[in-house]
Amino acid sequence: RTRSIVRGIGSYLPKRVLTNHDLAKFVDTSHEWIVQRTGIEERHIVEDGETTSMLGIKAAQAALDDAGLKPEDIDLIICATSTPDYTFPSTATQIQTGLGITHGAAFDLQAVCTGFVYGVATADKFLASGSHKRALVIGAETFSKLLDWNDRTTCVLFGDGAGAIVLEAVEGEGTSADRGVLTSHLRSDGRYRDKLYVDGGPGSTKTTGVLKMEGKEVFRFAVGMVTDVIRDAFTATGTTAEDLAWFVPHQANRRIITASADKLGIAPEKVVITVDRHGNTSAASIPLALDVARKDGRIKDGDLVMIEAIGGGFTWGSALIRW
Ligand code: ACO
Repeated sequence: RTRSIVRGIGSYLPKRVLTNHDLAKFVDTSHEWIVQRTGIEERHIVEDGETTSMLGIKAAQAALDDAGLKPEDIDLIICATSTPDYTFPSTATQIQTGLGITHGAAFDLQAVCTGFVYGVATADKFLASGSHKRALVIGAETFSKLLDWNDRTTCVLFGDGAGAIVLEAVEGEGTSADRGVLTSHLRSDGRYRDKLYVDGGPGSTKTTGVLKMEGKEVFRFAVGMVTDVIRDAFTATGTTAEDLAWFVPHQANRRIITASADKLGIAPEKVVITVDRHGNTSAASIPLALDVARKDGRIKDGDLVMIEAIGGGFTWGSALIRW
């Protein structure tokens, strides 16, 4: 069958770094509390006027450079975000025009922290159908704009950033048959809205709103639920935790990540963790982590990489990729 192989990856972080010590100057918290409960030490935060599409354009350009491709080689752009520049038009179209692309299709995809996994699964199905040839899947977020900076239970957890991957359709022959997106598994259950949501929007307050979360409940569900989609991915491909080279989960919290890996029997040294430096960047966290692990030499050609996330909705999902 037609396979979606990874051609390139890139990311971008805003220049401004906000450490736990910086946070402790204006909200009642401490570096020790944040590190112990979350593993987060610092996060990047946009300046006024810096938007999600600006981060997305830089990440997409980096992914194109890594792939050795030009913007016009792309005919599909999917931007996973919950923090669009505007209610409409989509951030994806802003990224499209920012890259100078005037053909093909661009749209946003909203699955909160699971957005990038949903984006990879969606692009893979477009490419496998033969309708499109090369896709940019971007996770771009400015969660700093959705936070109540007086609420210490949420504002310490998130950061801003963007990551992007280029997927290309190739016919499944020769070595390429073993590469690319091998399987993806998506789930959602809207009954859990109140556990993690933003209390605004055109259909409610007509304001943007701020993020609300029942942290303990989210933690419990995150560890409890995500394992089913990972087991589905192993079953669909006849692989096991032993076969993985790298486990690259959504970066929300170090404790969620290590508890999930432990439950699945994934060795700690195979787990990529960037939450310490990035905080939770929602849909951007996985491509940011993939880019770090690719550029520092951990992810090599031919490596089996599992990505996985859970986010508001709840939504959750996995994708198994042979790099
Ligand atoms: N600094 C200092 N103290 C704090 C802070 C803070 N930033 N935040 C809360 N506290 C206090 C609380 O007020 C509470 O005090 P009290 O005992 O006097 O009432 C105490 O610390 C313990 O609070 P808990 O909420 O019980 O702390 P918990 O151990 O559950 O940790 C946390 C909270 C870190 C939010 C945890 O529940 C968690 O990680 N949940 C997962 C949420 C998450 O990662 N969400 C990301 C979005 S969803 C996703 O991406 C999957």
